[in-house]
Amino acid sequence: MHKEQAHKEPRQETPPQKEQVELRQVAPDILITSVLNPSMRVFDIEMRTGYGTSYNSYAVIGSQKTALIDACHASFARDWLEKIDAALGGMPPDYLVMNHTEPDHSGAVSALLERWPQIPIIVSAPGAMNLKHITNREDLNLQMIKTTSHLDLGDISLHFILAPFLHWPDTMFTWLPERKVLFSGDFLGAHFCEPRLFDTQVLYRRDYIHEMESYFNSIMGPFKSYVLQGLDKLADINANFICPSHGPIVTKGCELENSLVRYRQWATPRPAQPTRIALFYCSAYGNTARLAEHIVQGVTEILPAAHISSHNLVLNEPGDLHEALNNSDALLIGSPTINRDALPVVWNLLAEIDAINIVKRPVALFGTYGWSGEAVPHLAARLQNLRARVFEPQLRVRFVPRATDLEAAKGFGRNFARQTFLPQEGDV
Ligand SMILES: Cc1cc2nc3c(=O)[nH]c(=O)nc-3n(C[C@H](O)[C@H](O)[C@H](O)COP(=O)(O)O)c2cc1C
Ligand SMILES: [Fe+2]
Ligand SMILES: [Fe+2]
Repeated sequence: MHKEQAHKEPRQETPPQKEQVELRQVAPDILITSVLNPSMRVFDIEMRTGYGTSYNSYAVIGSQKTALIDACHASFARDWLEKIDAALGGMPPDYLVMNHTEPDHSGAVSALLERWPQIPIIVSAPGAMNLKHITNREDLNLQMIKTTSHLDLGDISLHFILAPFLHWPDTMFTWLPERKVLFSGDFLGAHFCEPRLFDTQVLYRRDYIHEMESYFNSIMGPFKSYVLQGLDKLADINANFICPSHGPIVTKGCELENSLVRYRQWATPRPAQPTRIALFYCSAYGNTARLAEHIVQGVTEILPAAHISSHNLVLNEPGDLHEALNNSDALLIGSPTINRDALPVVWNLLAEIDAINIVKRPVALFGTYGWSGEAVPHLAARLQNLRARVFEPQLRVRFVPRATDLEAAKGFGRNFARQTFLPQEGDV
């Protein structure tokens, strides 16, 4: 078409068709304003899922007042606001309750405040601090929960239960007793995008439970004692629905009871087991490998009942070593020095360490080298920074270990085992 013609043609504009937003509900006065993200594959950089996620949010409509529970990721703010409009008929909510302020839930708060800057935000004290730095607004109308307290919405009410470290220091639960509904934040969540939103409608139940477990391991795993405290707080609550901030709503008679039992199992410390020691190494010419063998012999002499696993890092993916790395009572890590450093496979292993739980874990380091020998001290520095208990002195041998070096390696294993696991003189 010529330009001139284009000017003459009157432009036929059809008004954009606004899609009717239909909302599902937990109860007639609890509408689901969740946003689905089916294509998400990586969460928080390190957590992978094959099933996407949802950022769950709920509009609670009392006879006098309304409240939104949780927001969503900033990328989905528009969809979320449309849902809020559909739920509240375009009116502002009377309250915004933030059970947790991680940006997957708080990212869209700024968009909400652009429209209605003065909405009272109900939040824990650490959550309030986070929100100030996440929204960078001076005018937040924050109402902080100090101990447990509640909010009257008319015929229904919201009760707030501080539940720190599930998943951040800021987290809390919100309980709606009149409908027996608990809004639990990340607790009992899963990165599992179920479009029909309830566990009763999940077709692949085993996959969902598997995702709930891997979500637990990544998100709650470092805070198991807090998980047990959270479960205790729920002991007197006989909820019909638990509405987490990711994945399906968990319903009584479907996965609710089982999920609580599973959470308790996953969070309960294992009963006393044989000592578990994991050794990780790599070795280009077999020198560091020979040290490893002899160290294991030394450890076994002192701790014959211990379970010692040995892992060649070149033959294993770091992800597969996660359990041995993070759930052993002590670690032995060996690397040759190549180009003035430890090998990338060893650094990749250290990247898998759960930094919260490595504190005070006994770790012994060893390796062979040719002339400069930086690998072992570099690894020691990293582990000391992570506040592991690094065994001194470390074992370093130049090039090919002699018989005396191999004996020394055995002695190193014996000393490490003895000092770490056997009562020392002067110990009480
Ligand atoms: C490519 C290459 C680079 C190396 N760079 C260093 C180095 O920078 N500093 C050092 O002390 N040794 C260096 N070495 C020597 C090794 O640390 C030494 O041969 C060691 O015993 C190898 O242990 P492995 O048999 O367990 O692989 C290097 C060896 C190779 C093959
Ligand atoms: Fe979180
Ligand atoms: Fe989350």
